[in-house]
Amino acid sequence: MSAIRYELIKTCKQSGARLGKLHTPHGVIETPIFMPVGTMATVKTISPDELEEMHAQIILSNTYHLWIRPGEDIIKEAGGLHKFMNWNKPILTDSGGFQVFSLSKLRDIKEEGVHFRNHISGEKLFLSPEKAMQIQNDLGPDIMMAFDECPPHPASEEYMKASVERTSRWAERCLGAHANPDTQGLFGIVQGGEYEHFRKQSAKELISLDFPGYAIGGLSVGEPKEIMNRVLEYTTPLLPDNKPRYLMGVGSADSLIDGAIRGIDMFDCVLPTRIARNGTCMTSSGRLVVRNAKFARDFRPIDEKCDCHVCKNYSRAYIRHLVKCNESFGFRLTSYHNLYFLLNLMEQVRQAIREDRLLDFREEYFEAYG
Ligand code: GUN
Ligand code: ZN
Repeated sequence: MSAIRYELIKTCKQSGARLGKLHTPHGVIETPIFMPVGTMATVKTISPDELEEMHAQIILSNTYHLWIRPGEDIIKEAGGLHKFMNWNKPILTDSGGFQVFSLSKLRDIKEEGVHFRNHISGEKLFLSPEKAMQIQNDLGPDIMMAFDECPPHPASEEYMKASVERTSRWAERCLGAHANPDTQGLFGIVQGGEYEHFRKQSAKELISLDFPGYAIGGLSVGEPKEIMNRVLEYTTPLLPDNKPRYLMGVGSADSLIDGAIRGIDMFDCVLPTRIARNGTCMTSSGRLVVRNAKFARDFRPIDEKCDCHVCKNYSRAYIRHLVKCNESFGFRLTSYHNLYFLLNLMEQVRQAIREDRLLDFREEYFEAYG
């Protein structure tokens, strides 16, 4: 039995977007869903109780960071990541593949794995499909990701071919090394950049390995949004209808709607929490930089259309003051609001799918967004 099962509830007649349920060992997730990122076994500044209060259904954490600090052995000894961080709903961990490529300048990709340096101490490290599986088996998330290469953008055809084929071989090694397939689902990651024939090849090779879910990787790496949409248009139809599709590293409001329209079920991104920490808020009329002087005497909430705890109780002027003074409570407030905003957006997307009107919803949304 696979640990993860996707149930397709319905397809939006207007857009083709999917409404579904993802059954995991720690509960059922309604999709499409946005996953808040908790890299260090914490969604920065937000407690698990607050995550539940804002209806977060699943969070993401990172193999690479938890391997380096505190070490997966300590988390295993604590009883696994859920227990260690006191979050009892589903968790997905990324494999470390992407972090090695985004954080480490010095790296050497070999068939066996990747040699690189710790981005904090400079110590030499080695990550391979087998090691990434052992760490994720010890951490114990509901969903683990295969160890892949996220190729740079742009990459030559020659580079991409070698990379995609190696990612397929690594995916097969991940399946072979996965110790707990009955309690943890392992997702494959489709790569291939913006080359349609490589996306096809990657999808075909991974599908033949029969993963319980598939991610689309290598996007949101600096390419224009039109390219991302085009890649999704030809890639999601290649994936099986009865498995979840996860678009990695994407978290702007417009891309979540555009991804759902193209058949994506899951998204994650540091964007809402990262921009919150420099005082930028996501609102129904676009981004609001609460640091700006024009908010000094603005006693309205961040977003008048938002019914989150922050918008019900605190003003732009107060949050601006806290953020300008580097008060940690200010960053808690902006982070809370931004996560609530995206989780609420996904609830609206699911409702629009139920009502077969996601394209209309997109029009209305973008009109207000400006
Ligand atoms: N996060 C964002 N993009 C990627 C990707 O291509 N691979 C992995 N493993 N994680 C990602
Ligand atoms: Zn709010």
